Amino acid sequence: MSRVLIAGCGYVGTALGERLAADSHSVWGLRRRPLSLPQGVLPVSADLAVPSSLEGLPSDLDVVFYLASAAGREDALYRAAYVDGLRNLLEALGKQGQRPSRVFFVSSTAVYAQQRGEWVDESSPTQPTHFTGARLLEGERMLLEGPFPGVVVRFGGIYGPRRTRLFDSVRAGRAEYASGRARFTNRIHRDDCAGALRHLMNVESPDPIYLGVDCEPTDERSVLEWLAGALGAQPPRKVPAREGNARATGGNKRCRNERLLGSGYAFRYPTYREGYRAVIAEMT
Ligand SMILES: NC(=O)c1ccc[n+]([C@@H]2O[C@H](COP(=O)([O-])OP(=O)(O)OC[C@H]3O[C@@H](n4cnc5c(N)ncnc54)[C@H](OP(=O)(O)O)[C@@H]3O)[C@@H](O)[C@H]2O)c1
Repeated sequence: MSRVLIAGCGYVGTALGERLAADSHSVWGLRRRPLSLPQGVLPVSADLAVPSSLEGLPSDLDVVFYLASAAGREDALYRAAYVDGLRNLLEALGKQGQRPSRVFFVSSTAVYAQQRGEWVDESSPTQPTHFTGARLLEGERMLLEGPFPGVVVRFGGIYGPRRTRLFDSVRAGRAEYASGRARFTNRIHRDDCAGALRHLMNVESPDPIYLGVDCEPTDERSVLEWLAGALGAQPPRKVPAREGNARATGGNKRCRNERLLGSGYAFRYPTYREGYRAVIAEMT
């Protein structure tokens, strides 16, 4: 059994911790306010931005997951979460003489700048034009060039229980999609995030990078229309496309998950339809 640290133990980290504790691993969940961790996940109260708070990490860690998220959409906050916090943790592990056999960094599909609905995979160019992707890429490189064997997992948009902003906007009749070219979006259910990370922890010789998205990149309009039907809500409204708005920076690409599937991972929710149905069932 392994000794596992989940640094940034929030929405996904908690679901991962639950699974790893059920597998009988020793699991610690690190966050600034570790108040509501599940049974079997031991709390570590520390701030990744404050190196001195990382001096008392659990010893002899075998596997480390880094899942801290930025406190807001600003470059400085992204740098703090995805670059400085990761560096602080890697340095703390090094100073303590720890030799984890695997360190995971959870990144995002924001590292891709593709905007024309192209298919992308782990070998596609990453030339982010926005600080969000640039800082994540910086964190990825730091891990992969660092002292421990690293694995990067780039998740698409994460949804699941209680992450229902999209549902709420559809239900309230506020959902919109941009006219013109289809805009492809990529997503993954929280349980598949946790399931894929758990799976990759057990893969003997993992690749350095995996895309963590479900099996069906889908244009935004189709997703909203499907949700409106499932929720019995008004269909989404078409609005004029504007360059440079939030939709544009959100990208327009289709992410392939073949490497993850090829490693043997079986999705619990292979498309948004199964995943959203489960979330709707939990809401009602
Ligand atoms: N949301 C998405 O759609 C999406 C898509 C792709 C990738 N991702 C990535 O997936 C990962 C997991 O996402 P999530 O939804 O599970 O995030 P989350 O619920 O916000 O959890 C992140 C955790 O990090 C902790 N944290 C933040 N700053 C910290 C610090 N300085 N020191 C210690 N702990 C800190 C927070 O707890 P405290 O506040 O108690 O410290 C929080 O519990 C993140 O890396 C995120 O960027 C998310």
